[in-house]
Amino acid sequence: MKNNIGIFGGSFDPMHSGHIKLAKFLVKELELSKLIIVPAAMSPFKNVSHSADKDRLEMCRLSLPEACFEISDFEISRGGVSYSVDTVSHFREAYPQDELYLIIGEDQLLIFDKWFRWKDILKTVTLAAVKRNDETSLSSLEEFADKNLRAFGRVVLLPFEPLEVSSTEIRGKIKNGESVAGLVSPETEDYIIKNGLYKNEMNELDSIILADVRERLSDFRYNHSLCVAEAARKLALRFGGDEKKAYTAGIAHDILKELPAEEAEKLFEEAGAVLTPLEKHSKKLWHAMAGEIYLRKHYPLPEDILSAVRWHTTGKENMTLLEKIIFVADFISDDRDYNGVEEMRERAKTSLELAMEEGLRFTIEDLSRECRPIHPDTLSAYNQIILERK
Ligand SMILES: [Fe+2]
Ligand SMILES: [Fe+2]
Repeated sequence: MKNNIGIFGGSFDPMHSGHIKLAKFLVKELELSKLIIVPAAMSPFKNVSHSADKDRLEMCRLSLPEACFEISDFEISRGGVSYSVDTVSHFREAYPQDELYLIIGEDQLLIFDKWFRWKDILKTVTLAAVKRNDETSLSSLEEFADKNLRAFGRVVLLPFEPLEVSSTEIRGKIKNGESVAGLVSPETEDYIIKNGLYKNEMNELDSIILADVRERLSDFRYNHSLCVAEAARKLALRFGGDEKKAYTAGIAHDILKELPAEEAEKLFEEAGAVLTPLEKHSKKLWHAMAGEIYLRKHYPLPEDILSAVRWHTTGKENMTLLEKIIFVADFISDDRDYNGVEEMRERAKTSLELAMEEGLRFTIEDLSRECRPIHPDTLSAYNQIILERK
């Protein structure tokens, strides 16, 4: 017997009552024996994903426990960007005899002929477009489908009254400590609370800076910035610093790490920054100085974040807690794997100063071994720690 099976993709971050209402509607309306929910893979380099893949999958399971729903990790385990044509081919192979429906929204229907290999999708499955918006009338959508799509496959339109709820709204509420009862299933709500999801959602400025960092840095350094931000947040939590500021300074600290030297020189000139002969010689130090100038010019960041970026490479005498946090986080972030990193991480568990001392010694030894000059601020920072050690 031929079964009707639906394929419903999305980021589901988290799955909410709007999705649940739609999923149940689809089962009834299309007489589905099964609706397969396919959470999309979120590239850590493209999107700022809000919760881990395993959490998104679990919240889908908790939201739709009935037997007619299947939660698939197909796109998540493939990783990267999945094209719908690959997803539908996968399910066509799994269900060669059944009637498959790919669920899309009406906004997507109107641009469906721009999708990658859209004709192949139409050859493989029936397109089921949920008509959410009353502004576009059903007849004009039907007309669009007739004119552009139906020559290549089957398209059905499903009028549906959506709930006014969005994942963005839910994440915002949780971040602000507000209840999301009724907006997600009670089980999902419990899960979110128990696992502390979305509590540390990035604020808008962080997202904008992070997008800028993404543009300017290679994958490797972008990942490093995220790791430093996370390490800084944890250090702030451990040593009584401001977690949010530590995170922001972490994502921003290397923002100009890959800026060409000529552009950095231009930036110094414009800002009237005077470099010492040693600083002119040591181009590795430029990104911290240039980074501060750039961030000050483009973003409304407080002084303490700017100075944490400014001093993250050399260190200096009388560093603030936030400056120390960024300096140390840069040494112990998860992406680091140099010889001795474990010892540094151990030190940073008990004392920022101990970790600073080791980091400064590491820098000084490294530079002197390579016959490179040592910035006086690095020496001052080191000397101060040694002299003040009780
Ligand atoms: Fe750096
Ligand atoms: Fe760094």
